[in-house]
Amino acid sequence: MGICCSIRIKAESAFSTGDDSKIGEKNGNSNSSSKVSTGSQSNTPRSEGEILQSSNLKSFTFGELKNATRNFRPDSVLGEGGFGSVFKGWVDEHSLAASKPGTGIVIAVKRLNQEGLQGHKEWLAEINYLGQLRHPNLVKLIGYCLEDDHRLLAYEFMPKGSMENHLFRRGSYFQPLSWRLRLKVALGAARGLAFLHNAETMVIYRDFKTSNILLDSNFNAKLSDFGLARDGPTGDKSHVSTRVMGTYGYAAPEYLSTGHLTAKSDVYSFGVVLLEILSGKKAIDKNRPTGEHNLVEWAKPCLSNKRRIFRVLDPRLEGQYSLGRALKLANLALQCLCMEPKMRPSMDEVVTTLEELQDSEKRDRREPQMNRNGVSTTNKARSCRQEVGPGVVAYPRPSASLRA
Ligand SMILES: Nc1ncnc2c1ncn2[C@@H]1O[C@H](COP(=O)(O)OP(=O)(O)OP(=O)(O)O)[C@@H](O)[C@H]1O
Ligand SMILES: [Mg+2]
Repeated sequence: MGICCSIRIKAESAFSTGDDSKIGEKNGNSNSSSKVSTGSQSNTPRSEGEILQSSNLKSFTFGELKNATRNFRPDSVLGEGGFGSVFKGWVDEHSLAASKPGTGIVIAVKRLNQEGLQGHKEWLAEINYLGQLRHPNLVKLIGYCLEDDHRLLAYEFMPKGSMENHLFRRGSYFQPLSWRLRLKVALGAARGLAFLHNAETMVIYRDFKTSNILLDSNFNAKLSDFGLARDGPTGDKSHVSTRVMGTYGYAAPEYLSTGHLTAKSDVYSFGVVLLEILSGKKAIDKNRPTGEHNLVEWAKPCLSNKRRIFRVLDPRLEGQYSLGRALKLANLALQCLCMEPKMRPSMDEVVTTLEELQDSEKRDRREPQMNRNGVSTTNKARSCRQEVGPGVVAYPRPSASLRA
């Protein structure tokens, strides 16, 4: 679960209908008869065999991935999640055979450590979706392994890790992300979601959160983890009925209370992530003062107020943004977090707004930037920034008090 104590929702709700009700069946692991999500290209449920055969992915043996990760060495662990551990490995670029560390291409190998049908279902859903969908803002799945009880997935390696680490981890490796990079990541992730919602058969991602936004070396955002993704409603249906699953703090209120899933559930989760990006605060944090545990509840009343907005904005961003753009971004988060799903924007609209913000940022680099007292800090901000490579800006380390 990355670095935070986000809790995944896996309890069966009273609203359970449809495919997901099969999760309760006891025919647990493997076999080619279990039906899963339909995938993005057709509405006919596909069997496990069909999904694995049609995926165009490399089928690895367990031994191959064991060699690629040097026997899953503890010092090659990239992270841990609810599914299992993720290891760094090396394979030959063409044959995809295990290669010596430092040669060939780097991959990230996720190894399922969970027993039972749910882990298998999520493993298969990942192959089902990422085996078919390709987009610059979705992580690339290279292959999988299904051997005895072993279930693994091999992805392109994302050198900058997850957005969660960059926002919430303190330490010399994780410098606070600049305003410009935060906007870039938000836009990339929004494009990924918009692509899913516009797919031939709509895909609802259902687990949008900062730990599932991975970053390449240029901070391009890519969505990972399609284990909980579902096909959207078809025909004249307004929603899909599912077991309530996802992560507390990110799931839309109407989905939590009814089990009715729509693309607007993803838009709500996007609003939560946007708030995390703006504030540098986790969606749920019991270590914050009473009344501030839930970021959305605490921040919402401040988002449209010129003065109170500064309570929400990450103090590590001071001097990097204009008040006008900060308010626009906060207003976008507010719209995404609307209690009435129909009032939330579509992901296409979110992308348009973020593109406009990014364009105006580029055009208007000279606009004076304000601190919370309304004083221009442009020169000060410039003088303490340091360009450390193409597209990467380093800032002074956060003060000790910010490091928790
Ligand atoms: N392709 C990848 N390249 C580099 N690092 C990765 C890659 N995939 C995952 N990671 C790292 O491994 C961590 C764990 O990922 P994982 O998706 O298993 O769990 P999570 O997203 O943190 O939690 P959850 O299981 O609730 O989704 C990520 O936070 C990230 O730091
Ligand atoms: Mg994840």
